[in-house]
Amino acid sequence: MNINDTLDIKIPILAAPLQGVTDNVWRMAQHDVFGGVDAYYAPFMRVEHGEVRRKDLRDVSPEHGQGITLIPQILACSPEHALMMVEAIKSMGYHRIDINLGCPFPPIALHRKGSGMLAWPDLAETLFIALATVPDVQYSIKMRIGWDKNDQWRDILPLLDIIKPCHITVHPRTGKQQYKGDLDIEQFEALLAASPWPVVYNGGLRTVQDIGQIIQRYPTLAAVMVGSGLAANPGMLNPDATPDDYRRFHDMLVDGYTEQLNGGEAQLVRHLQDIWQTFLPSTSHKLFKAIRKSRTLDQYLGAAAAALGDVEAALARPVG
Ligand SMILES: Cc1cc2nc3c(=O)[nH]c(=O)nc-3n(C[C@H](O)[C@H](O)[C@H](O)COP(=O)(O)O)c2cc1C
Repeated sequence: MNINDTLDIKIPILAAPLQGVTDNVWRMAQHDVFGGVDAYYAPFMRVEHGEVRRKDLRDVSPEHGQGITLIPQILACSPEHALMMVEAIKSMGYHRIDINLGCPFPPIALHRKGSGMLAWPDLAETLFIALATVPDVQYSIKMRIGWDKNDQWRDILPLLDIIKPCHITVHPRTGKQQYKGDLDIEQFEALLAASPWPVVYNGGLRTVQDIGQIIQRYPTLAAVMVGSGLAANPGMLNPDATPDDYRRFHDMLVDGYTEQLNGGEAQLVRHLQDIWQTFLPSTSHKLFKAIRKSRTLDQYLGAAAAALGDVEAALARPVG
């Protein structure tokens, strides 16, 4: 059974990209153990030192995505770099690409990339014109309502006609807000009413009840996208998830990162510790501290086993 059966609502549920969390190992573990996701959006790819980052290409390599629908994402940037990424993605056999106009990270946004580009419609237009020249690719957009003003989407929306996106995913905050402050529902509603493109809602959906409410409130939504809620509780879309499933999910992460990271035990332990920045955030302070303090893989696995032994309590606690 999945969420769509539970709520008797037929709407696609998309897994949001979270840089450093929802990589191929996480995606396959979430899919194999819990499911409920219709398509996974990969964290954005970028060009560094004149070439597409190899790590980003490896992450979306089709061998790591068997059985799932995976949409690679590129950061909105210069046409030259964007085209390099689109060609690299296409050469792996993809025909769908998401364009990130949402990243709020200042070193990126202040260079007029990601959400920063929302304040520069001329740059967005030049980018879209270049992207539209590539045959056999359908684009979607992931955007905020603006960079430093909450209505900058109004200048961007008409330009989307150049690339005719299959949908636009909207996180109703400005880039400057980062991930804090109120969601601007008023601007979201104005955008939803004005958009000729199907709209996907993204922001603050942490439970199936949240999803049900947003779908009821906006019945014209094309889909919903879930990010931190799914990272915190990868089983949130599966009403039949058991404590054993969370252990199995964690085992798959350990196995996957053991295979993919080649920086030795210290790097592996650090990476596994980092998972707990988002995973099961209501884990008790004592158990979380034991995870943070572990120095060897054995210590880490012991601490993680204790935390996973308490998973039901962690899931029942409010996120604080
Ligand atoms: C650590 C982190 C990394 C993120 N990385 C990306 C990314 O690579 N691409 C992207 O479009 N959004 C990224 N986002 C934004 C999320 O996809 C999502 O839009 C945001 O978290 C709001 O949705 P949520 O409330 O469901 O988490 C990231 C967010 C966080 C917290």
